[in-house]
Amino acid sequence: MSIQTTGFPATSRILHWLMAVLILAMLFIGVGMAASNTGQYSTLVSIHKPLGIAILILAALRLVNRLINPPPPLPADLPGIQRFAAHASHLALYAFMFALPLVGWSMLSAAGYPIVLFGPLQLPPILPKSPSVYASLRELHTVLAYLLFATVLLHFAAALFHGLIRRDGVLESMTSVRVGK
Ligand code: HEM
Ligand code: HEM
Repeated sequence: MSIQTTGFPATSRILHWLMAVLILAMLFIGVGMAASNTGQYSTLVSIHKPLGIAILILAALRLVNRLINPPPPLPADLPGIQRFAAHASHLALYAFMFALPLVGWSMLSAAGYPIVLFGPLQLPPILPKSPSVYASLRELHTVLAYLLFATVLLHFAAALFHGLIRRDGVLESMTSVRVGK
């Protein structure tokens, strides 16, 4: 089994782990919000909106960083199907990182709600007001959030498979500090 000697650059690792924490927090805040009929709802929403927009900005920075600092190659002996699964799941994760905040922003625009970030700072609506569009996007937001959660779980399982079973250096490429070459 070939050992991967190069890891992800520091900027990629910082963005990966910062965003992993933020996205997991958003999934739980979102579910808490949707399930809450108490006074906690408005507190959770006031965290969910700016954090979601921060994820959108970080996703754009991450994409630019990926073009400047490309990821290390996968191990040469990785079977084609696993290589395909790795690329497809990373593509899906990027798509979710953009789609969820954009659908959140669009659905609130369609509902005619203000998209408050901090205090007086608000985002402009990106869609005209329409209750039916709001209803469809609200449903889409939930479906995308659960698909993201499922993809993250598969991604986590794949990371453990690389780290504990294949022991091919892929897990370390994102987790350990690179020493030497
Ligand atoms: C990565 C970004 C995001 C994630 C992972 C996420 C996740 C979630 C989840 C899991 C729910 C609960 C769904 C349900 O159980 O029905 C939810 C609801 C919601 N999200 Fe997001 N979201 C994100 C971004 C945004 C953004 C940027 C906005 C708005 C600017 C937003 C606005 C909302 C609203 C208004 C709800 C519905 C709350 C209600 O039930 O009234 N989300 N989100
Ligand atoms: C919300 C959570 C997460 C998201 C959205 C996410 C997303 C991504 C993405 C898009 C990549 C491709 C590299 C890039 O362009 O940055 C990646 C790589 C990687 N992630 Fe995650 N990740 C998450 C959580 C985790 C967790 C919990 C682990 C656990 C150990 C992990 C381990 C790795 C590893 C080892 C790689 C390198 C894989 C390779 O080179 O193919 N990630 N992640």
